Amino acid sequence: MITMNTNTISTASPIVQARGLTVAHGALVVLRDIEFVIAPGEIFVVLGASGSGKSSLLRDLIGLHPPAAGQVLIEGHDLYVGSEAQLAALRRRFGVMFQAGALWSALSVGDNLMLPMRLFTTLTAAQREQRARAKLALVGLDDAFALMPAQLSGGMRKRAALARALALEPGLLFLDEPGSGLDPVNAARLDALILQLRRQLGTTVVMVTHEIDSVFAVADRVLFLDDLDKTMTALGSPQALASTGPPRVREFLHRGRSQVDAQVDAQAHAQAHAPGQPQGPASGHPLVQAAA
Ligand SMILES: Nc1ncnc2c1ncn2[C@@H]1O[C@H](COP(=O)(O)OP(=O)(O)OP(=O)(O)O)[C@@H](O)[C@H]1O
Ligand SMILES: [Mg+2]
Repeated sequence: MITMNTNTISTASPIVQARGLTVAHGALVVLRDIEFVIAPGEIFVVLGASGSGKSSLLRDLIGLHPPAAGQVLIEGHDLYVGSEAQLAALRRRFGVMFQAGALWSALSVGDNLMLPMRLFTTLTAAQREQRARAKLALVGLDDAFALMPAQLSGGMRKRAALARALALEPGLLFLDEPGSGLDPVNAARLDALILQLRRQLGTTVVMVTHEIDSVFAVADRVLFLDDLDKTMTALGSPQALASTGPPRVREFLHRGRSQVDAQVDAQAHAQAHAPGQPQGPASGHPLVQAAA
């Protein structure tokens, strides 16, 4: 049974579309019947237990691993149908940050950011450096430009990988667990950065995360992948799924939350839904309003 809360966001021109996807590794089917559309400017979170197939789905969505069945459309174009040149151009429209946050270890942090710019833009060397430094500053790594990846801590490496995903200023970002391994201050900064990118640049973000507080802070909608059912079992706003989603989804959302935040949220929810109150906090979001 699939719960489809607020799954009626305008689908006029979705930026990402998954149509009847089966995600498999050889004979191992990880997920089937995956179906969703992501609207431009949406922050779309993929949630599920370890091994439920989040990273596998993401690899299908970014053109690295063809689905066993179904289609992935980016701005209406099939990500797996076309010439190599066409597909490469399509893939260049989005930035990716992998779960391992891999940087090119032989290149300095600055060069890690500037290499894609050199390959895919007409920026001058001075402009490339200026942009690389600006992206590093955005993730709080102002002083890391000349460092080698091996000189960074795990969390710093993650942030550098995020800065590299931003190097080409893509309108669409795929992030696999960008917040794991970050301290609370940097995790909150990351949430703020994601919201800032959407607000200022209209960036669409597709993000896998285990950080439930972050889900409530940034997600417009959550796609829940169930490792037992091997398919999606819920799609909706985190607030709606936390209160009316399937039991396993509710448990997942509640268990992962800090007690204080859960209480604050519950109080806000109760106040917002008291008689005479027109809307809950989540309803104020433009995407959710568009869905109403
Ligand atoms: N390259 C691969 N070849 C074969 N099987 C794979 C491969 N990558 C992942 N799998 C299998 O696919 C399933 C889903 O793995 P995946 O990495 O997508 O899970 P996940 O939800 O991202 O987990 P985590 O939260 O731990 O990152 C697992 O059973 C895993 O063993
Ligand atoms: Mg993963």
